[in-house]
Amino acid sequence: MIDHDILIVGGGLTGLRAAVGLCDRFNVGLISKVYPVRSHSICAQGGINAALTNNPDARDDSWEKHTFDTIKGSDFLADQDAVEIMCKEAIKIVYEMEHWGCPFSRFPDGTIAQRPFGGAAYPRTCYSSDITGHVLLNTLYERAVAKGVKIYPEWFVTSLCVEDGQCHGVVALDMHSGELVPVRAGVTFFGTGGYGRVYQHSTNSLTSTGSGIGMAYKAGVPLKDMEFVQFHPTTLIGTNILMTEACRGEGGYLVNNQGERFMKRYAPTAKELAPRDIVSRCIQTEINEGRGFDHPLGRYIQLDLRHLGEKKIQERLTGIRKICIDFIGIDPVDEPIPIMPCQHYSMGGIDVNERCASEVRGFYAGGECACVSVHGANRLGGNSLLETIVFGKLAAQAISEDMEGGIPKPDEKPLLKLKDEVEKKILRLTAPGREKPYQLQADLGVVMDQKVGIFRTREQLKQAVDKLPELKERYRHVGVSSPSRHMNYELINALELEYMLEVAHTIALGAMLREESRGSHFRTDFNTRNDRDWLKHTIARMGDDGGPAMSYKDVVITRYQPVERKY
Ligand code: FUM
Repeated sequence: MIDHDILIVGGGLTGLRAAVGLCDRFNVGLISKVYPVRSHSICAQGGINAALTNNPDARDDSWEKHTFDTIKGSDFLADQDAVEIMCKEAIKIVYEMEHWGCPFSRFPDGTIAQRPFGGAAYPRTCYSSDITGHVLLNTLYERAVAKGVKIYPEWFVTSLCVEDGQCHGVVALDMHSGELVPVRAGVTFFGTGGYGRVYQHSTNSLTSTGSGIGMAYKAGVPLKDMEFVQFHPTTLIGTNILMTEACRGEGGYLVNNQGERFMKRYAPTAKELAPRDIVSRCIQTEINEGRGFDHPLGRYIQLDLRHLGEKKIQERLTGIRKICIDFIGIDPVDEPIPIMPCQHYSMGGIDVNERCASEVRGFYAGGECACVSVHGANRLGGNSLLETIVFGKLAAQAISEDMEGGIPKPDEKPLLKLKDEVEKKILRLTAPGREKPYQLQADLGVVMDQKVGIFRTREQLKQAVDKLPELKERYRHVGVSSPSRHMNYELINALELEYMLEVAHTIALGAMLREESRGSHFRTDFNTRNDRDWLKHTIARMGDDGGPAMSYKDVVITRYQPVERKY
């Protein structure tokens, strides 16, 4: 048994920021299934929003305007008190990261450079070329190491231990030794990331399985707004590698097979810089109506950067140029990039308040695995990196305060019991079985892509909801190829798959029940927003029959009454 005052699960930006905020006062352990600098935060490209007013076109910007843009972008589902906190805090945390050594790109006057991003009235996205997640993550990792945070790299948390409304810690698998270890902690904090890989096409790393979300759900913690799935408009055809929104922020065009910049028709003012939910739907509509281009890997739309010129592309979109050359043999200086929309981000997640506290004593969550909610039905680009660091910091403050009030000592008995259960599960998964985890995951991805996608109907959603119990039944027959516990990724994949199926079930059922269109959730059979009946959060709990039991809760409105979104 390992003991910590506070256990953090996840080595991305949220987890590292929380660890940095807590490690001076408490005995903190941080478990990560990959080396922390390989966490999915590293993939974030375009930038982090804060109303610094450095851009000459943003002198009138303010955190209040950032708040309004975020709430409008969320299609009024975000909790407005939480958005205010995030946008106010944004300015402080960007300067904090700068002072901790983060190498942001600069304007000629030496201030942090800011570029336009979708759905924002001012250019407020701070960036470091197109590797913003990379530089932020390395800055925080260095700080965590310098402060001596105890890190368990390549340990996989198999289960969260909750009994009688209190969290006691986790059971984890040391992927090197293969040992199953109970980890007891007064507070457990999840910064475990999103669930992109429950979809077939996603910009997310293969590690973004949502297993942390599923683990919390299976342990009895409710999830919130799971039906709101973000589809990024511009991902490279074939691999679906992210082609950052910064491509359009820097002036890139979206063009159909008629040579038309079609966004002018859909969003006459914002055009390519309308929010992502809108741009993704417009691209998909162009493709569905026959104005896309054909490619052996699928139909696509062109993202044209050529008019920006080589100097600007090389300086501001360095990584994009290299990815295009390496993965598809296209230099965006000379040719348009073939793109299609696909899954990118999880707006919903573990239901927590603005202090990142869940309803379970001693269990907190932040970042993409959590739903505070600051993104509502649609997140603005650049607000994800922001959320990770702001709520990592604020969670650390909240946990410190709560520790002062005294959190009851966690008990070892439920942990030992849970360890025995996990041991049995692993024995079952490593015995011969007729189902292979990769095949089952692939089948799940197809269902989610085809039935719970950008455009949704009751009929398709019902098919997905009906399919999930069948996939769960197949999961009972999963067996991995090798019983070894040493770095056995197929075993990790099999363990995660159980949680992925649960997560997918909450997404599909939430989407089927929500009979309106709001933000990223677009129902062709209910194609308008319905504030009278649906201005509310969906809460999913694991029901007695093993499926999700749904209820609803109010959205917090402070200053901004819902209005129609126009761009
Ligand atoms: O397009 C991007 O660079 C992604 C940014 C984000 O998801 O916030």
